[in-house]
Amino acid sequence: MSSTVLCERDGAVAWVRLNRPDKLNALNAELLRALGATLDVLAADRTVACAVLTGAGEKAFAAGADIQAMLAMSPEQARAFSEMGQRVFSRLERAPFPVIGAINGFALGGGCELALACDFLYASDKAKFGQPEVNLGVMPGFGGTQRLARRVGIARARELCYSGDIVGAEEAYRLGLVNRVVPHEELLATVKELALKIASKGQLAVAQCKRVLFSGADVPLETANALESQAFGVLFGTKDRSEGMSAFLEKRKASFTGE
Ligand code: COA
Repeated sequence: MSSTVLCERDGAVAWVRLNRPDKLNALNAELLRALGATLDVLAADRTVACAVLTGAGEKAFAAGADIQAMLAMSPEQARAFSEMGQRVFSRLERAPFPVIGAINGFALGGGCELALACDFLYASDKAKFGQPEVNLGVMPGFGGTQRLARRVGIARARELCYSGDIVGAEEAYRLGLVNRVVPHEELLATVKELALKIASKGQLAVAQCKRVLFSGADVPLETANALESQAFGVLFGTKDRSEGMSAFLEKRKASFTGE
């Protein structure tokens, strides 16, 4: 498998690293394919309860789609590249476990779009976000116009996409783009603690929360609530549910198996 994406396990947590640090982890077709393949492997592995996505190197999560690779693209090739990125990011968004984005530096253009496909983000105080594609005469193509608007509101998304402005971590927090800003050197340890906490919970329950939060976001409330009731019922057929409730009543710590 390509070395442009690295994957390591820490118990039930998978750590996925974009790995082109000399190019600030710019997203080319090879890296997108490797990310898709990594996600497929993780999605098929029921022992994965949570994942973290971050960038290798000190400076970047990902500084965008690879401008060198895009230089000679025809309109048809560009459309296919956009569709490929969108497919991979949708797989990330729909992974059967939460994915925390640990934003360790630049998250620009396609890097910001990739971050937006994670469940939520923790950012280093050195992180920078933006959709600077208009500086290159292009626009976000990996779902950015849509996910950014859904995350921060359409007016703020418009301002970011039209101006190409880059914002720091604190501003990204104020916009609702990131959940928490932490000192750079503490980012990975902070995210690790959170990922292990999530992974220690009823894995099927967390997965159903993720599925319903995602599927319910773009449908009428009544339909979304019906999805919730259905998922709530499904969980009552699991061993984890019996174990979790029995453990509470027996005043002991639950021992979940993901079944
Ligand atoms: N695509 C391809 N290569 C990229 C890249 C991208 N999106 N972003 C950075 N790189 C490469 C640079 O070309 C450089 O390669 P080189 O060493 O072979 O010349 C290397 O990564 C380091 O980048 P550099 O620009 O020297 O770092 P910097 O610290 O001076 O600046 C940025 C950092 C993020 C401000 C700057 O790299 C940048 O503006 N990148 C493009 C951001 C962008 O427009 N993204 C949207 C793309 S659609």
